Amino acid sequence: MPTHVKDLKVSGKRVFVRTDYNVPLDQAGRVTDDFRIRASLPTIEYLLEQGASVILASHLGRPNGSVVPEMSLKPVAEKLAELVQADVHFAPDCVGAEVASLVAALKPGEILMLENLRFHMAETDNAPDFSKQLARLADVYVNDAFGTAHRAHASNVGIVKHIKEVAAGFLLMKEIEFLVKAIESPERPFTVILGGSKVSGKIDLLKRLADVADNILIGGGMAFTFLSAAPLNHNVGSSLVEEDRLQFASDVIELCLDKGVNLVLPSDCIAARQITEAADARELPIRALEDDLMGLDIGGRTVISFNAILDSSKTVLWNGPMGVFEQTPFQDGTRSIARKLCDITKKGATTIVGGGDSAAALKKFGLAGCVTHTSTGGGASLELLSGIDLPAFEALKGAK
Ligand code: 3PG
Repeated sequence: MPTHVKDLKVSGKRVFVRTDYNVPLDQAGRVTDDFRIRASLPTIEYLLEQGASVILASHLGRPNGSVVPEMSLKPVAEKLAELVQADVHFAPDCVGAEVASLVAALKPGEILMLENLRFHMAETDNAPDFSKQLARLADVYVNDAFGTAHRAHASNVGIVKHIKEVAAGFLLMKEIEFLVKAIESPERPFTVILGGSKVSGKIDLLKRLADVADNILIGGGMAFTFLSAAPLNHNVGSSLVEEDRLQFASDVIELCLDKGVNLVLPSDCIAARQITEAADARELPIRALEDDLMGLDIGGRTVISFNAILDSSKTVLWNGPMGVFEQTPFQDGTRSIARKLCDITKKGATTIVGGGDSAAALKKFGLAGCVTHTSTGGGASLELLSGIDLPAFEALKGAK
């Protein structure tokens, strides 16, 4: 394990904290979801209490090396100032003479947020010179950007070599602990609910789950590739099917049979001809899907069978919505599963929600915070759970 920030002496030091403030902004440039900002508070507040000065760095969006004003971190600095109830100074760039003088003027207990790292291509290129320039700003480096830990960039990998003291922040450590424990030593029965549109993004995860899960419940668009695959060979109408993943889906079905994993697919769905608010949606058994109908949510019978398994589970990991929950006609399946997760959490189960769409669904249904842990990382949590090393975490572990 890397050094934890609480094991470093930071009083009077300048601490560079890599956070993941890649948050949604509305048209007026206001932060519409501050979950990732709140999640970074334990590290920031701890450093301030210890008398450090805090330099925050993040990316926002994918500006590809250009200065894109709509991707400025300024609104994030304003939101953070509200949350910590203190001034957050803002630097117009993340490297250069002006930034250096703002850093030099920073006093213990003060916060400076740097402008979007990705306004420089050198960030995503992990350019050594850029890493050195960032490193020169501080005495200590803390990585707390779990959501970006699957990337190998200058501010989360390159920088580590150029700064003497490095550590992981509270959020990074908490995420790794929850997710690694869930997949490596879960309290059983261990149930995984997978959804979202595609099988493609979840290949490594499915392979790993076949070794560790007791139950795998599959909903969302990806279920239709499984339902179409041998040996089931269902006709699924116009539902989304990834033809090039049919063989993989068959292999997973067989692997689960071999290993005694209970793989459960939908028996019914909410189907429609279009994905719109006004869609003429109807509940149908899968076998009744006509050629021009798409399955866009799990149906009531599927919800009952999934919920029965969830009720008797001790650890549940949820990744991916059960349907097109952004549209009213197709949201019930995802909402029912989200409610059930909250319900079993109250009864003592450990429930973990991968970031991204499932976290957005919890928020939409007013259920954010009712599960044991909601990850701040979509891609990062998927890779970690799939058994793929996260470059940013490995860099911290490898640091002298
Ligand atoms: C995310 O939102 O998943 C992270 O911030 C990583 O962003 P990226 O996919 O643009 O690297």
